[in-house]
Amino acid sequence: MPDTLDTHVRFGSNSGQPITRRDGRAKVTGGATFAADNSPDSVLHAVYVPATIARGRVTALDTAAAEAHPGVTHVVTPQNRPPLQGDPSDKPTMFSFRFEALQDDTVRYAGQPIALILGETLEAATEGARLLNPRYEIATPRTGLDEAAHYTFDPDAFGKPADTVHGDPEAGHAAAAHSVDVTYETAPQYHNAMETHAVVASWDGDRLSLDMPSQALSMTCAGIAYYFGIPAENVTLRSPYLGGGFGSKAIPTGPYVLAVLAARMTGRPVKMMLTRQQMFGPVGHRGQTRQRLRLGTDAEGRLTVLDHAGLSATSTFDDFIEPAANASQGLYAAGALRSTHSAVRLDVGTPGPMRAPGEASGSAALECAMDEMAETLGMDPLEFRLRNYAETEPGTGKPFSSKALRECYAQGAERFGWADRPLQPGQMRDADGLRVGWGMGTAFFPCPMFMAEANATLRADGTAMVETSAADMGQGAWTALAQIAADSLGLPLDQVEFRAGHSGLPDAGVAGGSGHTATAGSALHAAGGDVIRQLGEIAAADPDSPLHGAGNAGFTARDGRLYVAGDDSRSDAFADILARAGGAEVSGAGSASRAPEAAEAHAMNAHGAVFAEVKVDPDLCQMRVTRLVGAFAAGRIINPRLAESQLYGGMIWGLSFALHEEARHDPARGHIVNADLAGYHVPVNADVHGLDVISVHEDDPYVNALGVKGVGEIGITGTVGAIGNAIWHATGKRVRRFPIRIDDLL
Ligand code: MOS
Repeated sequence: MPDTLDTHVRFGSNSGQPITRRDGRAKVTGGATFAADNSPDSVLHAVYVPATIARGRVTALDTAAAEAHPGVTHVVTPQNRPPLQGDPSDKPTMFSFRFEALQDDTVRYAGQPIALILGETLEAATEGARLLNPRYEIATPRTGLDEAAHYTFDPDAFGKPADTVHGDPEAGHAAAAHSVDVTYETAPQYHNAMETHAVVASWDGDRLSLDMPSQALSMTCAGIAYYFGIPAENVTLRSPYLGGGFGSKAIPTGPYVLAVLAARMTGRPVKMMLTRQQMFGPVGHRGQTRQRLRLGTDAEGRLTVLDHAGLSATSTFDDFIEPAANASQGLYAAGALRSTHSAVRLDVGTPGPMRAPGEASGSAALECAMDEMAETLGMDPLEFRLRNYAETEPGTGKPFSSKALRECYAQGAERFGWADRPLQPGQMRDADGLRVGWGMGTAFFPCPMFMAEANATLRADGTAMVETSAADMGQGAWTALAQIAADSLGLPLDQVEFRAGHSGLPDAGVAGGSGHTATAGSALHAAGGDVIRQLGEIAAADPDSPLHGAGNAGFTARDGRLYVAGDDSRSDAFADILARAGGAEVSGAGSASRAPEAAEAHAMNAHGAVFAEVKVDPDLCQMRVTRLVGAFAAGRIINPRLAESQLYGGMIWGLSFALHEEARHDPARGHIVNADLAGYHVPVNADVHGLDVISVHEDDPYVNALGVKGVGEIGITGTVGAIGNAIWHATGKRVRRFPIRIDDLL
């Protein structure tokens, strides 16, 4: 008899079910406690004063006027700010950004904190902030890509994209029978989660307690701890609910650190919640880009070269670069591939990861350039993409772990009715005389895994508790992850208590990169498997168990019972096994990450195809996206309802990118003139018409034990280009700038 148990933990009845979001009711009824809902006794309210210029120096502040306000307790400026133990220019974690926290009187971007007011009430602190009346020495702001010098990358830059070359691009250009050389621009965009950034900070000696929304709890604790010279384990971070994140809540930024500093300085809890306007600057954004794409094909339309050069904006004091040109690696087979990045320093807050960083902007330009190439060839855009379909990873020749992109093209095209599309633009009108255009784009997103840990405990009564510090931004992590956990334990969902959103729990890593379900889910899967393995050992060794001696065959767990694998007649209930063992609990642990060998062996990506219909008013040039069909293949779908919802969301981001979102800078002072949701446009329901998501079946034995790839961000890729291409198809006008505006079509 072998001394190891081959225990099978298989997918049970929970995964694959379209269960509604478990936190949904609490969120829509006001029952969910968001960070700013916490008001500890004697809490002070913090309001920071944002710089209203983008470049220069603060020359005067009426601190006396603010201090004289009866409700104001403290006015913090660079003159009296207590020191931080860790330098805000340092990068203590992988997700650290340099930030402005009242170090000096220099203004580096509009919206930068220049003073902090603390008050007994929010109203008092707000009024105090208004009394400060800052005066400035104003320098000419640089807010456009042509207004600043290129710079060389800091080797330690976070998010610095590697330049990549495969094959000989110059030879590819020389050999091309057809070519396009086009330059696309994308606007600066700001995250604008519904819940603005908020923190409630309390100190007890050198222990810090934080209520704040976080996409990366452990890393945030480590980052904050660094600035205050305490061990990371001294920080307790509660983040049970987030009202959106989009990347910006993965990073401890300046306002958070200032609020924590204020709490330490005053010895009282401090609450700070950013106003909508304050979201435009200190908490990251998507930097603007200019991307040149040079494509060449042979006479039959096979790419001889795909050459993508991205220019991105970053701040004057940090180095995040939108890795846009990376989008051209990994998608189309081309004789030669080149992706390069350069950047300019502008007087803006540091950009950061936002909704498919790199891929979103890069795919917008790439998919339009592909359409222009197809136009040049006189070829259907879908046929052109199929002609350049990559059977192995372009450049490296690595096999894909799985790739159902062909099926995505086919199913999406079928649902959309793509076959009826006229090749030439300007051919279609609807019954009201509106111009109609159809465009498509390929969706593409890598499927990274981070590191995560989880625990699982099977209780004496046969129910279980699982824990990991996962973050649910609204994407449904608490639901999908709980489904995975319940299956790993062979229990119905309602028998599994799921604890997440607290830094004291095992580290679930980052809810980002579309990798949270894959990573935290794999850790939970492993933890559940560990419990079942132990339970099997107990049962197999128990003479009173129907499973006695069955360890050799292995076990399957389902519906709260352990079965001999392949033999449904022999089973034992969890609770009975545990009762005979003395009523003990069984605890297990699991962790997940991707082995480097696995990443070496296969290229791993999710794919999709997006088809767009637009209607354009021939007189007013008003544009409407009337239909979006997206077919996506992203491995195993744990919860079809939530996955579909993520993909809808992603496609709406794409619509937003294509036609709505843009931060505009005032040329004289450099501040963002539309820094609120009235001026900074995002789609409302009236802008979103037919949305159709097809989930294409895909089995992937390599990405992770779950076969999960992730669906958080892929929806935005493909969609932007599809809409841009549809507008060309409706009007015959190529607009090479996003968002596309009415005046671009005049
Ligand atoms: Mo994201 S931009 O991976 O939260």
